[in-house]
Amino acid sequence: MDKISTGISGLDHILKGGLISGRNYLITGPPGSGKSTLGLHFLRQGLKDDENVLFVSLCEIEEDLKDNAALYNWDVSGIELLCIDLIDVMETPEYKNFRYFENLFSVLFAKKNYHRIVFDSLKKITLMEPKIEARRRILRLMSTLSSQKDCTVLFLDDVNKRFNSIQMYTLSGIIRFYFTRTPGGRERAVGIGKMRGDFTDERIHPYKITKDGIEVFSDKVLFEKLNI
Ligand SMILES: Nc1ncnc2c1ncn2[C@@H]1O[C@H](COP(=O)(O)OP(=O)(O)O)[C@@H](O)[C@H]1O
Ligand SMILES: [Mg+2]
Repeated sequence: MDKISTGISGLDHILKGGLISGRNYLITGPPGSGKSTLGLHFLRQGLKDDENVLFVSLCEIEEDLKDNAALYNWDVSGIELLCIDLIDVMETPEYKNFRYFENLFSVLFAKKNYHRIVFDSLKKITLMEPKIEARRRILRLMSTLSSQKDCTVLFLDDVNKRFNSIQMYTLSGIIRFYFTRTPGGRERAVGIGKMRGDFTDERIHPYKITKDGIEVFSDKVLFEKLNI
């Protein structure tokens, strides 16, 4: 199985080389934990490898990606940005019959083969819709993107308990960011959830965010296992 780099060496190390190419992953963590930053690392790595990369944003602010990148002085001009205003989209017939994302990505992929996509974030969908509809929408979206063979997708989300086993089935794994309490105060921590077709390191490792982005300390362990 081909593995691709996340763009963060410590995380690649925990993942024994990186993410399996062509699979879908969920990235969870509270606001400010670094999900969008990880997304940028991941897409910038794609640019280095001459890949087509796409950042799909459901955020209100179109400049979100650029604002985030500006924090780290990163050049993101090669990253294609697609901003979706869900309020407008929700009025369309495609959205009402659950085909919106399927149609959108089939049009996009007809033009170009994307190797990496970051979807930021699922939270907006669940905020704007009753539970069951939101789940159906997300499930369809995940299945649509998992049918793209050479495209690796990161879905970013705020919480990690929302997904039932059916939704999990369309995902190959989860990367979880936490803020943990330690004797020294609050510490950033990252762990790998389920990884399908791959070994899983259950240990929780510390990471920090600096002007260069995320640094994961794969050689340090905060907890052997997290019970959630
Ligand atoms: N130059 C920097 N140095 C240190 N920390 C930074 C820097 N730029 C941003 N951060 C921190 O990175 C985090 C941003 O994470 P972000 O990727 O936006 O999180 P999420 O998408 O999970 O909400 C914030 O906690 C912010 O304080
Ligand atoms: Mg974010």
